[in-house]
Amino acid sequence: MDIKIFVASAVHVQYAEEICRQYALSASDRGTGIATRTPEYVSNKMEKGDSVIALDGETLVGFCYIEGFEEKKYVSNSGLIVVPDYRGHGIAMQIKQKVFALARDKYPKSKVFGITTSSAVMKINSSLGYIPVTYSELTRDEGFWKGCASCSNYEILKSKEYKMCMCTAMLAPSKEEMKVDLTDQIIVPEHEEK
Ligand SMILES: CC(C)(COP(=O)(O)OP(=O)(O)OC[C@H]1O[C@@H](n2cnc3c(N)ncnc32)[C@H](O)[C@@H]1OP(=O)(O)O)[C@@H](O)C(=O)NCCC(=O)NCCS
Repeated sequence: MDIKIFVASAVHVQYAEEICRQYALSASDRGTGIATRTPEYVSNKMEKGDSVIALDGETLVGFCYIEGFEEKKYVSNSGLIVVPDYRGHGIAMQIKQKVFALARDKYPKSKVFGITTSSAVMKINSSLGYIPVTYSELTRDEGFWKGCASCSNYEILKSKEYKMCMCTAMLAPSKEEMKVDLTDQIIVPEHEEK
């Protein structure tokens, strides 16, 4: 294996169909919705520099992309997939590290979030600094929640008025929020000020 991980660009559009085929296979295996995407949608993410691809030579290994909501107040790192033969080697972790760094650099004001039922993804997100939150801390953008419509749990989400469902919500602060100097907030006891 000689796996390399790149910020995807127009030269990778040739992999878009295979990525979508992997999404469809994964959705039918898991029985839960990994949202449906078209090759055109994936290609557009590549062309805009908003995705990360892993290749073993010329073979597709994995993919993940960035999606923005509420004028980029929030971004998600969505559509993480590693081809079955390559799972269990830490590749998803590397892809997420790269796409997270890309999201932070391109969109420093954006909080990064995701929802997942995957324990692998929860572990990866925790290692990147995400914390579990309630759905009330996520974007209200309908465009995001529309992605849940292809999930078998969608009726549950709707019945709970989009406030809870089977997925765990996770959120990481924006790059700018991380820069806040916490020493500003240290309270000096009165007797030390004199
Ligand atoms: C989820 C997925 C991306 C993981 O890819 P991967 O390359 O095998 O993951 P990694 O090897 O980087 O593992 C990352 C961590 O998750 C753990 N992990 C991996 N698969 C796991 C599983 N099925 N159950 C529990 N933990 C798992 C690993 O042990 C590792 O933790 P560690 O660092 O503490 O050892 C891959 O299984 C996949 O593509 N699944 C189908 C699509 C999907 O579920 N996408 C996520 C949608 S939210």
